[in-house]
Amino acid sequence: MAEINRAWVLEKRPVGDDFDSALKFRDLPMPELADGQVLIRTLYLSLDPANRGWMAGPTYMPAVPLGVPMWGGIVGRVVQSKSPKYSQGDIVGGFGSWSDYCALPADGLNKIPDMGGLPLAASQALFGGAGGTAYVGTLDIGQVKAGQTFVVSGAAGSVGSLAGQIAKIHGAKVIGIAGSADKCAWLTGDLGFDHAINYQAENVRERLAEICPGGVDVYFENVGGKVGNAVVANMAKGGRVALCGLVSQYNAEGAVPGLDMLPVLLKGCTVQGFILLDYLHRLGEASQKLGQWLGEGKIKFHADVTDGLKTR
Ligand SMILES: NC(=O)c1ccc[n+]([C@@H]2O[C@H](COP(=O)([O-])OP(=O)(O)OC[C@H]3O[C@@H](n4cnc5c(N)ncnc54)[C@H](OP(=O)(O)O)[C@@H]3O)[C@@H](O)[C@H]2O)c1
Repeated sequence: MAEINRAWVLEKRPVGDDFDSALKFRDLPMPELADGQVLIRTLYLSLDPANRGWMAGPTYMPAVPLGVPMWGGIVGRVVQSKSPKYSQGDIVGGFGSWSDYCALPADGLNKIPDMGGLPLAASQALFGGAGGTAYVGTLDIGQVKAGQTFVVSGAAGSVGSLAGQIAKIHGAKVIGIAGSADKCAWLTGDLGFDHAINYQAENVRERLAEICPGGVDVYFENVGGKVGNAVVANMAKGGRVALCGLVSQYNAEGAVPGLDMLPVLLKGCTVQGFILLDYLHRLGEASQKLGQWLGEGKIKFHADVTDGLKTR
């Protein structure tokens, strides 16, 4: 086992997208293991838009303290255990840190089941937070029904790509909004979306009006800003907005313009925000269904894997 623990330490609250000043790569001593804890060798870190919020201040959880390795979802191998729950060699998932090793309470971990030949990265890209968020946002919050028109922004991202496919499985007409021609081609060519709009090159509001003359029944909102408002302007009467994320504003300093509420008022729409942590009881069903749809060839996922803890 190594004698040092390499880690990305959060040293300052980030300003805008200046992560070079906020995060420093440090050699730390190996973590001490307390009773009830296990020492984990990190195999995968999940890099998520929410990480930016955790660096900045309290959100739905306390801010990451300064001077400690940045927090994040991990998958790793148990290398030492002071808990009867886990043994050396077990593969576990949990909330750890951006470091080679971390010592975590066994109670907060879950054992990764046999992946049936899938790469281990699928435990994050399909079955973890991405799949759970897409499942809950599309079905519990968006309540999509067969024959409805479903629009998702951030559509080529990990949550959006799964949300659109789940809506398609449930019989909706699905439109994805993404930021390049290649991403749009992937959505319609590989994932079976009915239409894709490139927000960098097209007028989203006008294109949606052409594609969905009856309006948008369910909008899975991942980005906010101009894209969000272009969709909200096209909502159908009684439409639903599943407010999952607002990634376009996470690096902003100070107040930012919100979603335009006039169409919500005029069309009698419902906007419901949600945080996956409040729906953890739905993760079992989500994983079971996602696995089933994967086996039936109804769903695809893409894991964007970068090799190595220090890549810059
Ligand atoms: N509510 C919850 O519990 C929960 C849980 C997980 C994630 N989320 C939220 O879900 C959203 C998607 O997360 P993810 O894990 O799928 O992230 P992701 O894989 O990084 O995808 C996010 C996508 O957003 C697009 N994007 C970035 N900046 C944008 C901008 N200014 N305008 C329009 N699009 C922009 C990018 O695609 P393009 O290149 O196409 O622009 C990017 O691929 C985020 O807002 C995240 O915070 C919420």
